[in-house]
Amino acid sequence: MTPPDHDPRSVTHGEAALGPTVRGYDRIRTVASFDELLDTPLTEPVNAVCWQRQLDGDFAEVVRLLAARDGVTTIDEDLLRALPLGKAGQLAAATLIADLAQLRARGHEPVLECIRGYPRDDDSPLPTDVYSFHVDSATVPTDTILCSYTAPASEGLRNDEAQRQIDVPAVRARLLAHFGGRDDAEFVAYVRANFFDLHYAARAGTRPFSFGVGNLWRLAVAHPLAAVVPCIHRAPSTAPAALPRLLLIS
Ligand SMILES: [Fe+2]
Repeated sequence: MTPPDHDPRSVTHGEAALGPTVRGYDRIRTVASFDELLDTPLTEPVNAVCWQRQLDGDFAEVVRLLAARDGVTTIDEDLLRALPLGKAGQLAAATLIADLAQLRARGHEPVLECIRGYPRDDDSPLPTDVYSFHVDSATVPTDTILCSYTAPASEGLRNDEAQRQIDVPAVRARLLAHFGGRDDAEFVAYVRANFFDLHYAARAGTRPFSFGVGNLWRLAVAHPLAAVVPCIHRAPSTAPAALPRLLLIS
């Protein structure tokens, strides 16, 4: 049976919906409105803002009718409006369109994606695909906004339960062997060029937390003027036979 918080038509809200791993965790600030989501400063200790929402409508019907093939399909409003949806599906599509419009009105460039799967980075000495815990990075101040409308939702890892992969001795040794040189400035440049420094391992005994379905999140990103450490997150694995995910990202 599907757990209640994994049913896109039955999203729970309130603090309990975030689960015990993050209850009382001071890096996550929960808010009650869209404006508050965007206006809350990402300054120590807060590196993630969450607007918990209970969304009506059948998002799974939207996904079924989109009939996306492999990989990632970008969905626009015209496509949503053209789907022969029932009443519950229409309600879901209206929410998707409203979320896109609200974010655009505040200067963001949201993209709605139907995701069967992302490419896996299997050939690297340290996979850097989005299934690996990572922080987003940018050369200019920005943040990441995301919402999972269908399960499974994106996942987060508390900063105090994470360790940079390059600081794990066995991983660093593997990267050094692959690099074929010494642990010097050139190696650091190699690590940065391949984004290895942005990926994290969960410390033993810790558990990732779910961003939940329907919740809008704003995450701190690593950039030169960042006032807080970035938020660690990853895409959840999806079974090949499962419905694709529906994700808004900006
Ligand atoms: Fe990311």
